[in-house]
Order: sequence, then structure tokens, then C-alpha cells
Amino acid sequence: MDGNGRWAAARGLPRLEGHRRGAERLFEIIDACVDLGIGTLTVFAFSAENWKRPPAEVSGLFKLGEWLLRAHLARLDKRNVRLKVIGDVTSLPDFARTPLEEAIAASKDNTTLDLVVALNYGARQEAVEAARRIARDVASGALQTEQIDWRAFESRLDTAGLPDPDLIIRTSGEFRLSNFLLLQSAYAEIHIAPEYWPDFGKEQLEAALSDYRRRERRFGLTGAQVQGAPPSP
Ligand code: FPP
Repeated sequence: MDGNGRWAAARGLPRLEGHRRGAERLFEIIDACVDLGIGTLTVFAFSAENWKRPPAEVSGLFKLGEWLLRAHLARLDKRNVRLKVIGDVTSLPDFARTPLEEAIAASKDNTTLDLVVALNYGARQEAVEAARRIARDVASGALQTEQIDWRAFESRLDTAGLPDPDLIIRTSGEFRLSNFLLLQSAYAEIHIAPEYWPDFGKEQLEAALSDYRRRERRFGLTGAQVQGAPPSP
């Protein structure tokens, strides 16, 4: 959800106003995903590196997150959305962590859309933590070294049980992944949207999806194999 700060600066508004408008857009995009039949939406809300921002912005973001949960939980529930988080939420302030954990528990049986919020998340940190889990399991005898394969690794990532992303949308015209789902996006299609996140609505989501539909996903195969045609010599 990149570009909140620049959206605000372009209007002479405080950065937190950009985040507030970005949060409104998030709920519009959640509704659109439910309407479009998308099963999983993962949003990068706060990276492990975002702690380095000015303290007032960091605390403002968590206050906004806590307010969003209180104000919109019923709306999410009505749309049958299940909330999940990836990232290390143990270092979040209590006033934000407690309602988050309650919302996750309350929505656990919802089935229409998995809304995965990346909070204090970083893909490298996630990979290091998965390696630690593997090491602990090998040390305890629960896992043999020879059994370590991608499946064993993947099942120890924060995203265990979630599908790999098919499409990654980066807003604000930036061409980078910024430590987001680096391993899970090995075969993801990437769409760069020029709009700042507060200007990214259903119309822009639909444009990203039509761009995605035009891609040929080959997963290492040839185009002919994917299309079921005889291979060319
Ligand atoms: C990136 O834009 C956006 C964020 C770091 C925050 C996104 C959060 C929300 C939309 C609200 C929900 C909040 C929580 C904590 C659940 P940026 O600030 O990096 O934009 P810039 O690159 O233009 O400065």
C-alpha cells in the first residue's frame, strides 16, 4: 500500500492523513476482492523496517490500525472475511495487539476471503525464523536433515497453509518488492500501478487483473507445453 505519504505531501496534508485515506481504500479493495471472488488478499501494512520512521508516525499508524479494527470488524464479519497476520506481532504495542488477536479469533470460521495483514513483517526475517524452526526440529529429532525440502521449509514460514501469491500489485510506480513475500512470490506476476495507494480503487484493481489475465504463466515450461501444443524441436 505504497504512496500514502507522497499522496498527502502532494496535497499539503500530514502523512497520517495519507495513511487514513489509504485505510479507506483498503476497505474498498477488500469489498472488491469479495465481489470478484478472490480468495486471499495480503496487504503490507507495516514492515519490520518501518520502526525507523518518526515515532509520531509509527504510533499514529498503530492507533489507526486499532481504530480500523474497532470501526470495521462488523463489516468484515458481514462479508465473511477471515483475518490473519504475518510478521512478528509480539513487539506491537498492547493496545493494538490485543484487539488484533481478538479479531483473528472472532473471524476464524469465516470463509469468503482470507485478509492477511503483514505487520512488523520482513521476508528475510521470516526466512531466518523458518530456519530457526527447522534447526530446533532437527535438534529435537522431530525432523531429519534429509527430510528438509521446500515443503518442510514452506510449512515453517508465517504464510504456512496460505497459497503463493498469483499477482503482486505495487502501487506508486515503484519497481521493487521491498522485502515482501520474497520466497512466496517466486512465480508471482507483478503489476506496477502508477497511482499512490489512496488513489488505488476498484477500477485500478480491475485494470491490474486484466493485465494479469494477459500474462502467460509458464512455471519453467515452454509456451507450447503450457498451451498443450506439441513441443517445437
Ligand atoms: C506505505 O506508504 C504505507 C504504510 C507504511 C502504511 C500502510 C497502512 C495503512 C494503509 C493503514 C493500516 C494501518 C495499519 C498499521 C494496520 P508510505 O508511507 O511509505 O508512502 P510514501 O512512500 O509515499 O512515503
